[in-house]
Amino acid sequence: MILTGMQRGGMLGIVVFPSNTFSYHVAVGILFIASSILVGYEMIMSGSYSWVAVRRIPFSFRYIAAETRAWFGLWPPMKESISYDPATKRYKEKLIPSAIVVWWAFVILGWVLVPTGLALAFPTQFAFIYSIVDPIGMALTGVGGYAFMVAVHRLATVFLLLLVFMHIYSTFIYRLVQSIIIGYRHEPVA
Ligand code: HEM
Repeated sequence: MILTGMQRGGMLGIVVFPSNTFSYHVAVGILFIASSILVGYEMIMSGSYSWVAVRRIPFSFRYIAAETRAWFGLWPPMKESISYDPATKRYKEKLIPSAIVVWWAFVILGWVLVPTGLALAFPTQFAFIYSIVDPIGMALTGVGGYAFMVAVHRLATVFLLLLVFMHIYSTFIYRLVQSIIIGYRHEPVA
């Protein structure tokens, strides 16, 4: 989605794709919407949503603040958060709590990219999205309509790219690559 979108926005030239891929952007975009709905449904039905639930966001921010203080040496190192109770065979905590905020950041970017994408691809059917976004565009920039919609869509992509690159970076500094490939936890525990 990032690459085909960037090609459409004229940011790639013909280096990555020799021909126009724009139809794939819209087709895969629709598949992306369908799979996000399925994943969301599965997370709620299986109960795994509870690990990233809205009510846990403040806890996640507190953990990030404590991690930051520890990073600067103002606080003792953070305790290992993931814990498992062998008696009940249940996790007491399944996440490193900072991951909750990151998960929501991805969700929010999806909530921006999907409606703006739909409004760009099907302006007649999704005219109501313009009526919501136009006043914001006019107030902030003096521009509404298609132009502002593309700008929001592009800005969300920039944030998405940042988040993706931060993740690639952290998989290396937290030495997660081996665990990702073989499925057993290999990263060092504090
Ligand atoms: C992960 C999700 C997505 C990403 C990363 C993404 C990224 C991009 C980018 C970078 C552009 C170029 C913007 C520009 O011209 O500056 C673009 C354009 C576009 N996207 Fe997406 N997009 C996503 C989802 C969607 C979805 C779900 C749809 C609709 C089904 C969609 C429809 C469009 C359309 C119609 C344009 C053309 C805008 C124009 O006229 O230039 N996008 N997208």
